[in-house]
Formats: sequence, structure tokens, C-alpha cells
Amino acid sequence: MAEPLTDESIAGARAAFRTLEQVERAARRRMPAPVWDFLAGGSGAEDTLRDNTAAFDRWRFRPRALSGMRSVGMSSELFGKSMAAPLLVAPFAPDGLFHQDGFKAVAAACEAAGLAAVAPSSCSFPMEEVRSAGESARFFQLPPTEPDVMRWLIERAEKAGYEALFVTVDQPVIGWRERVRAGDFTFDQSLTGANFAVPGGPGRAPVLGSGSRWLDWTWETLSSLLSRSSLPFVVKGVLTAEDARAAVRFGAAGVVVSNHGGRQLHSVPATLRQLPEVVEAIGGSVPVLLDSGLRRGSDVVKALALGADAVLIGRAAAHGLAAGGASGLLRTLELFMEEMTTVLALLGRNPPQLTPEVLQPS
Ligand SMILES: Cc1cc2nc3c(=O)[nH]c(=O)nc-3n(C[C@H](O)[C@H](O)[C@H](O)COP(=O)(O)O)c2cc1C
Repeated sequence: MAEPLTDESIAGARAAFRTLEQVERAARRRMPAPVWDFLAGGSGAEDTLRDNTAAFDRWRFRPRALSGMRSVGMSSELFGKSMAAPLLVAPFAPDGLFHQDGFKAVAAACEAAGLAAVAPSSCSFPMEEVRSAGESARFFQLPPTEPDVMRWLIERAEKAGYEALFVTVDQPVIGWRERVRAGDFTFDQSLTGANFAVPGGPGRAPVLGSGSRWLDWTWETLSSLLSRSSLPFVVKGVLTAEDARAAVRFGAAGVVVSNHGGRQLHSVPATLRQLPEVVEAIGGSVPVLLDSGLRRGSDVVKALALGADAVLIGRAAAHGLAAGGASGLLRTLELFMEEMTTVLALLGRNPPQLTPEVLQPS
């Protein structure tokens, strides 16, 4: 049984965590060092991991005083449904590594916050259970893998009520993760296989990078498989104008500018830096989402100003989950949204008025 969100647990998390830094510290205290390294680490010399967060610090706000703004309104719409803010929880797995309730707690927290989550295919719980823990689990993530397995997952996602597929294209193999290689982290396959262990499935998750199946996908083969689904698909892991244009040409309903939080190909640029190039290439035809490196509410505002329609948080959400399950994550989401409200009020702009002109280089 997942721990329910109660008034008491929510009040406890609010009292314990006044800042996101406190949430992160509590999460770190609760995790064995190798698990922390797996979560916090990146690939290569972690240059991209550092650049992701530094990219936000390179911008400063240009506030306008006495803007006459009556109230701050952050609610936004994504794929036809409204959300309390343009903020989603990114797919991260194995979620059960950080808290026993994993993505069931994520779904419950997002539901309570009025936000949305992307459930990972390598989840510690079957997608049907995640979805019934909260309809906020609107989206299902999956990688290009064995076509039979993909078709089977997609059919289940349709039946379970997911509204779109997020296809992760930046992970044909696992990145060169030196912090993990140097430490004692061992991957517990049982925490990633729940979606595959249900009747009719392959029994266990396809092992990432095994065989040619992961590498021989093209835009053509991927879009031909996905076009048979009734669900729209979003391409997660785009960093260039070329890939953004290809995604749209091959039928994507949206793109996520993502470098997997600096965990996949190393020495790629920060996502915030790539955002304007992708936004220009997409030209407003589909929503542009962004993740990687967001650690606070002002980061969200900066991403929106540079053209993102919404953002996703990975590690920051995992910190909340690890620090206190559903209530820890709910508190994290509240802190993001409360800081965003403060920043927007001080800036004198609501999200629709956020343009690059509200920023200048630091
Ligand atoms: C521990 C961990 C596990 C992840 N697992 C997945 C996954 O299974 N599928 C996926 O598409 N992305 C995965 N990601 C990437 C996230 O979806 C997201 O792109 C990234 O965390 C964003 O960067 P941030 O952590 O700086 O917010 C994972 C990230 C982390 C930190």
C-alpha cells in the first residue's frame, strides 16, 4: 500500500522543508552514497551536468516596476488540458530506489499540486498502477526498443488512459557515467522491470544497449510504428534545430529539449542554451518543452522567457520523493510554484508576457 497524502503528512513536510535546498539535503541524508551518486551524477567529466545549471545563472532579470499587473496567474495548458503551472515531473527510474512508493507517490503528489507527470517505462510499478494512483500521470515515456515490446506497451498505455507518449531518443546506450563506474552502485533490475513482468510481456525489461535494436532506429521507422497509435507522441531528447525539424516532419506533437540531465552524451551543450535554436526551428507549430538543470522557480521563469511552453524537473523531483514520499514531492512542487509566483510578481509579468526581453546576460 502506498502511503496516502494526508493533511498531517502535508503539514509535516511544509514544516520540515522551507527551501528546496533543505529538501535536497534531507534526500541526500536518506540515500546510501552509491544511490546518491547514481542520482546526482552525470556522464563524462560532468561538464554538461555543470553547464545545465550554470546556463540558468548566466541570465539576469530585467524587471519593470509598477506594471499594473493585477494578479499572478500561472495556470497553463498542455495538449488540451490545464495545469496549475507549466511544470511537469520528468520520467526517472528506477523510482523505487528513492522511495518505496516510487511513481505512485509522484502521481499522487502531482494530482494534489494540479500538475502532470511522465511515467517512465522502466518504472518500479506497472503503468496501470501509476495511472490509478493519480490521473496527473498523463504521459507515458518509452524508448525505441524491440518493436513488439513497444507496440505492447503502447496498447497498454492507450487502455490505461495515458494522453501522449514521450519517446526518449537520446539513450540508444547508457552514457559514460564515471561517478557510477567509480562507485559501488549496482543496478537492481527488479526495480526497473514492473512494466515488463506483467502477463503477455517479455518478463523483464529489455537490457538497454543490447543488440542492434536500440541503434538501428531511424525517424522513418520510429514514426511509422508510432503513427499506428491513437496517442500523439512527443520526442524527448532534442538539442538541435535539425532534430527539432525532423521530429515535427515525422509527426511529433511536441519536443523536449533535453540532454537527459547531463547523463547521456557528454560534452553536449546546456539545454537552456539550445532552446532558442529549437524554438526558432519549430516556429510555434508544436509545444517546446525543456528539462535538464532546473533547480528553482526562477529557472522555470527563465526557460519560459526563452521560449519554452513548459518545463520538466527530474532530480529536483527525485529529491522531494526521497525526502518524504508523496508529501515531500508535493512540498517540492509547492516551493517551485511559490518561488515562481514571487518572481513573476517582482518581474511584473505573467507567463504570456515572458519574452527574451525580460532577461539580460549576467
Ligand atoms: C535517476 C534518473 C533516472 C532517469 N531515468 C529516465 C528514464 O527512465 N527515461 C527518461 O526518458 N529519462 C530519464 N531520466 C532523465 C529525466 O527524464 C530528465 O531528462 C532529467 O532528469 C532532467 O534533468 P534534471 O535532473 O537536471 O532535472 C532520468 C534522470 C535521472 C536523474
